[in-house]
Amino acid sequence: MTEDRIRRHPILPITEKHSFAFYWRSEECLALEGETIAASLFANGVRIFGHHVKDGAPQGIFCANGQCAQCMVLVDGFPVKSCMELIRPGARVEPAEGLFPLPGAAGPASAPLPFREIEEIRVPVLIIGGGPAGLSAAIELGKLGIRTLLIDDKHRLGGKLVLQTHRFFGSMAAVYAGTRGIDIATILEREVRSLDPVEVWTQTPALAVFSDGKVGVLKEGRTYVLVSPEVLLTASGAREKNLAFPGNTLPGVYGAGAFQTLVNRDLVRAARRLFIVGGGNVGLIAGYHGLQAGISVAGLVEAMPECGGYKVHKDKLARFGVPIHTSHTIVSANGQEAVESVTIARIDDRFRIVPGTERSYACDTVLVAVGLDPVNEFHEKAMAFGLTAFVAGDAEEIAEASAAIFSGKIRGLEIARALGRNVGEISPEWYETAEILKSKPGGVITEQQPGVEEGVFPVLHCVQEIPCDPCTAVCPARLIEIDSSDIRKLPVFLSAREGKGCSGCEKCVAVCPGLAITLVDYRKDSEFPTVTIPYEFLEETIHPGDRAAVQDTEGNLLGNVEVQAVRAIKANDRTALIKVRAPAAYAKSIAGIRIQPAAESEPMEQYIERTTDDTIVCRCERVAAGAIRKLIREGARDVNQIKALTRASMGPCGAKTCTPLIRRLFREEGVPDNEVVEQSKRPLFLEVPLRVFAGLVAKEDDHAAK
Ligand code: FES
Repeated sequence: MTEDRIRRHPILPITEKHSFAFYWRSEECLALEGETIAASLFANGVRIFGHHVKDGAPQGIFCANGQCAQCMVLVDGFPVKSCMELIRPGARVEPAEGLFPLPGAAGPASAPLPFREIEEIRVPVLIIGGGPAGLSAAIELGKLGIRTLLIDDKHRLGGKLVLQTHRFFGSMAAVYAGTRGIDIATILEREVRSLDPVEVWTQTPALAVFSDGKVGVLKEGRTYVLVSPEVLLTASGAREKNLAFPGNTLPGVYGAGAFQTLVNRDLVRAARRLFIVGGGNVGLIAGYHGLQAGISVAGLVEAMPECGGYKVHKDKLARFGVPIHTSHTIVSANGQEAVESVTIARIDDRFRIVPGTERSYACDTVLVAVGLDPVNEFHEKAMAFGLTAFVAGDAEEIAEASAAIFSGKIRGLEIARALGRNVGEISPEWYETAEILKSKPGGVITEQQPGVEEGVFPVLHCVQEIPCDPCTAVCPARLIEIDSSDIRKLPVFLSAREGKGCSGCEKCVAVCPGLAITLVDYRKDSEFPTVTIPYEFLEETIHPGDRAAVQDTEGNLLGNVEVQAVRAIKANDRTALIKVRAPAAYAKSIAGIRIQPAAESEPMEQYIERTTDDTIVCRCERVAAGAIRKLIREGARDVNQIKALTRASMGPCGAKTCTPLIRRLFREEGVPDNEVVEQSKRPLFLEVPLRVFAGLVAKEDDHAAK
């Protein structure tokens, strides 16, 4: 079998791990300790995890976050979600083919089954979710000596922070701006674990919030425990939105977060060439992460005339050589058993495809990055049952992780107050900062370049208001300023302060999270100044003496220039600085170096038309849009009715994946939201064998009893 692991990465440390054998079908494969089954399968080149019982459609990973059920496999005969379960030595993993046999009972029917009492515990605070918001709240509570139980369904704390190789935006003073997400996760986890009042249970999903105020959790994936908290904080993050298009369930179509999980957390090469749908921050950053991992990015489509994510993220991708197709949509993902290409087309101002503009691009992966929905079911239930409940981070409102860190901090103090602790007034400035960190990117101005062509100075290719300030904090002469009342304002370079000018220390170039600052130095040669450019790719991809294709902010090619030096010093924390010698005519316009050759993103000669119009809306039950649309046209307004007649939303994901798509079909048919009756929510938020609630004692490695 091929081995698809990432062995070198410009940012992520690759540590030696103990390896062992497991079996996929009867074939022996190699796994690394501590990785999920899905990661082991991907690392061994397996992309198809089974076939659907209804129509034999191939199934593969979709969310990699425990939210859907597409990655189901059989391990030693028992069905498990491969993205959530860790691989074990010698495990026999089989594809989940059609209607696989149900696992047998844990013991002979005649023998008495070993049951135990369900443990019940009381805690002042239960936090669901160990991501940026949950960890920050736990730190505040722990520092105040308040006993807190923090649970997370993953085997690692940090939530989405552990996927982020880039430096964070936001405020340096408030939320670690300028530090990489992966490092923020380590800082927060270390602090939480150092606080005695905080107890942490990983691999512990919350299953349900009950009307008696108890929360059912599956401790370490095996023991059912009822937790009675005085206060519940839901910080369970977000799930990715789905999109309906022909071919949307082919293995190889998955959420951008799933891709980041496989690449940045599990260090597997999840794709050879990918195409991204959606120009928000998640899609743009996933493209950057792909390039860093040595994966080609054939392009990105965004239906709106402009990308919704930060312009600095979009500019980075464009400069590296990734075409951004705005006012375009995905027409289909194409292939028989897995993705082989994608077809896109231009759309008009009413989002209709413009005939004749279809193009196909070869790729093996399509990333769906069309937004996030809050995972807020626990909070909704808690409120409905009258618990003292708070919500923070993406579960409250979708925003950047920096905003989640800050909202967690605030909720921590609010909870302390709710428990009667005297924490004083929470400063109104904190609430203001929280709002600023949540703000959407502002308008774009035309880039202003310094008028001078002498000495040395930074060029700030930052032309959109976003909350971000690290460049101001690192300048030793304080020559970069942002309006102190609002870090969303654009940074301004002052040529001198108190008689001191720029010394060319390069700190601002290295720290900018958007890689949007260069330094132009005319001191040695005014006709061919030296330009210092930030670079976060493997060092061996660029050497002194190479010719580098340099581009402006928007990704337009300026010329090919000589690389003079590559500086990778510890103080710059894995951001290398590349010095090029460039003609004065465009030195100040240089914003970056092209990474990807144009051939990686050229369209195929002919576009591929996918014949099926049966776009799947409910992927668990394989229900197509046509069947649901027909019922809506016949007058159905109650989703429960649609559910009963088609089985849409009755699958193992608990309708988490298809509910937004069904809502969209109603809207497309002109039915206003207030006329639609929502389906009843399931009391449990996760699939779990009923024996868990009965307290059947699990033996070591006994999946049946789990
Ligand atoms: S997609 Fe899972 S129930 Fe519809």
